[in-house]
Amino acid sequence: MQYTKLGATGLTVSRLCLGTMTFGGTCDEAQARAILDKATEGGISFLDTASSYPMGSEGSGTGRTEEILGRWLKGRRHDVIVASKGGSRVGPHAWDAGSSRKHLLDAIDASLRRLGTDYVDLYQVHHDDPSTPLEETLEALDTIVRSGRARYVGVSNFLAYRLALALGRAEARRLVKVVSVQSRYNLLFRQIERELLPLASEEKVAVTVYNPLAGGMLTGKYQSMAQPLPEDSRFNPAATGAGAKANYRDRYWHEREFTTLHALRAEADKIGQSVTTLAVAWVLANPVITSAIIGASRAEQLVDSLKAVDCRIDAPLKQHLDELTHEYRFGDAQR
Ligand SMILES: NC(=O)c1ccc[n+]([C@@H]2O[C@H](COP(=O)([O-])OP(=O)(O)OC[C@H]3O[C@@H](n4cnc5c(N)ncnc54)[C@H](OP(=O)(O)O)[C@@H]3O)[C@@H](O)[C@H]2O)c1
Repeated sequence: MQYTKLGATGLTVSRLCLGTMTFGGTCDEAQARAILDKATEGGISFLDTASSYPMGSEGSGTGRTEEILGRWLKGRRHDVIVASKGGSRVGPHAWDAGSSRKHLLDAIDASLRRLGTDYVDLYQVHHDDPSTPLEETLEALDTIVRSGRARYVGVSNFLAYRLALALGRAEARRLVKVVSVQSRYNLLFRQIERELLPLASEEKVAVTVYNPLAGGMLTGKYQSMAQPLPEDSRFNPAATGAGAKANYRDRYWHEREFTTLHALRAEADKIGQSVTTLAVAWVLANPVITSAIIGASRAEQLVDSLKAVDCRIDAPLKQHLDELTHEYRFGDAQR
């Protein structure tokens, strides 16, 4: 495993972070525990969760992921760095989502109860909430750190200009720093390279990135748009299970992405790696990225992602992969 500092902080984290969004959704508790065991045996010591997980659980079963993680954490809380997020919808009331002081404080207290811990290491605002004054959100994050509920705070899914505002306003008001940003990033979605990554680099903000395998597109298990899909696949438009509400099909299920996937697969073959390993290694090859948050619904799926830490992407290959996927630096930011 490779380790690095979380941005400008003194905290050391593993460059692979384990995402838990499938726990209690597309994978049951026994599988989730096997995934956690496999990840930690492979040197991963950084775990990412959220109050709203499992994915697609809005309205029923929200919070199950943190409960499963909390049971696994018993007796080993100090062996891992735990990050959670609040702000996504967790209940029916108007105040059960967003970045108000009310919701963020309710959300972290509920997360700590489910996780069975007094504190998380990193607490992140899950989404930007333009309906709440940024100052209110920053003051709530300040309370969260000063009250001991979290060691550090960050944001997720923020555009660069909103992160810049958050950094500046927290500094002006002497509130705790936003030390990290969590964003989507993979070979098929590179928009953050244009503004967010240069900002993060200059301001030494840690960047943790989700969806490095484009939800499974970059594993090669999907070969063409005509392929029949399992019921619980994130890409199945008829899915009614835990992954059903995600918009993955809109994001990646296009001829253009399949053509790129085949070209990437050929490059992976040339260096004797799977496209999964190549895709995660490409993310890690970017020095601005602190950690890639990898996901799985079965422990065996982690094998190829874990190999990425030892897969060297030299400068000519990096440049070639960048050129092959150049068009994904641009595009519809909403997808
Ligand atoms: N901040 C946010 O808004 C946000 C959003 C999304 C995710 N996240 C975080 O990031 C984590 C990772 O996100 P993600 O799940 O989208 O990441 P991902 O790494 O792009 O996708 C993971 C999925 O890829 C498939 N997969 C992985 N390895 C495979 C293999 N070797 N062979 C075949 N399929 C394989 C599995 O799909 P199947 O389950 O279909 O088998 C797995 O669930 C989440 O758990 C969560 O912690 C954060």
